[in-house]
Amino acid sequence: MKVALLGYGTVGSGVVEVIRSNSESIEKRAGKPIEIKYVLDLRDFPNDPINELIVHDFNVILEDEEVEIVAEAMGGINPAYNFAKACLEKGKSYVTSNKELVALHGAELLEIARIHNVNFLFEASVGGGIPIIRPLNQSITADEINEITGILNGTTNYILTKMKDEGRTFEDVLKEAQELGYAEKNPAADVEGYDACRKIAILSSLAFGEHVNFEDIPTEGITKITKEDMVYAEKMNCVIKLLGTCQRQDDNVFARVSPMLISKSHPLAMVNDVFNAIFVKGNMVDDLMFYGKGAGKLPTASAVVADIVDAAKHKGTNIMTIWNREKIDLKAKEDVRVAYFVRLENADAGLGERVNEIFGEVKQVEALNGEYAFVTRVMKEKHFSEKLEALSDVKVLSKIRVQE
Ligand code: NDP
Ligand code: HSE
Repeated sequence: MKVALLGYGTVGSGVVEVIRSNSESIEKRAGKPIEIKYVLDLRDFPNDPINELIVHDFNVILEDEEVEIVAEAMGGINPAYNFAKACLEKGKSYVTSNKELVALHGAELLEIARIHNVNFLFEASVGGGIPIIRPLNQSITADEINEITGILNGTTNYILTKMKDEGRTFEDVLKEAQELGYAEKNPAADVEGYDACRKIAILSSLAFGEHVNFEDIPTEGITKITKEDMVYAEKMNCVIKLLGTCQRQDDNVFARVSPMLISKSHPLAMVNDVFNAIFVKGNMVDDLMFYGKGAGKLPTASAVVADIVDAAKHKGTNIMTIWNREKIDLKAKEDVRVAYFVRLENADAGLGERVNEIFGEVKQVEALNGEYAFVTRVMKEKHFSEKLEALSDVKVLSKIRVQE
């Protein structure tokens, strides 16, 4: 079966390596040999044997009827969206690791794939090498999903782990994560939480069967997290993790991406370095946890190639995936209930009393450098903001949500 690969960077070169290294077992599982016929990239690779397969014109791939599966690892919306649409409409299955594309156009591309009786598969778009899309779509289908919460970005988990364990600076570890091929082309997507936001949008769309618009998800990254916050976390027997979550609450769904303080006894607290973990709560199966490398060349390529194998096995059959275009209205972020850890600068003698008056009873945390630090009780986001506003004369050094 002839495959074309779009993009020969970290993931794309991994796809070639996986197919070549495991060709025998892949052939057995796919029921036929899988052969890469073309690799589309902007560049040439004169010192790499792949160069003989390099093309620069997408139409060569589109018009070649021998090519039945196209695997994309270029990233971005343009031209990936047009390429995906054109391939599916031509009857070619399309496999991608591109979460930007899936979060924005997943519902539409799945529909086009269904109409043309081919497949649009995107296992690598969430959690790198962790199987999570297929379980949601095929294994947990007996359940109503009530919650998905996870560490969904390898770069930020790598940064937070190294800052905590090795006392290194944010900038230094980010540079290393880029060198290791974990980070997005523009690493703001990682550190500002946009990447995790797209991933939780994809997971919640699959879990609830309707479109969760990533732009509706309140998103905060890790750029404001400091070494001092890490010291406080340690004192509180907690760690700081960037979590993406979606939950059913009453008759609503709420979703959010933000750094959270979680107890060291929480299962996600032990997920370090580039590893990701995704916790899923079903109403019948109860708690499930998926764990593995969330970024990097070979783990991600493994998921892309597994999709290629699935597309080969399902030639002529569309694997039904429920993700309607109809949009879910998410619960307003102001109404979501949460507890906060707060650090205030320059505590004067009366500050503790004022905090208690404003917030009601708080849990005081032993403070550093003359600061005042505390954890609030659980309250609506809007009430927290109003109360903090009443302290507008005091500098807020940090405010981090606390996972119950
Ligand atoms: P890279 O930047 O390493 O690779 C992308 C490759 O595609 C580059 O060689 C790039 O060329 C090429 N490319 C970009 N635009 C075009 C185009 N229009 N036509 C042809 N080739 C093009 O990215 P990654 O491999 O890291 O990521 C690829 C995708 O996979 C992204 O969507 C990313 O989010 C996703 N992903 C990445 C993971 C990782 O760990 N790296 C994990 C999971 C998903 P050039 O360099 O010249 O721009
Ligand atoms: N930049 C992403 C991450 C790649 O660090 O998780 C995997 O999607």
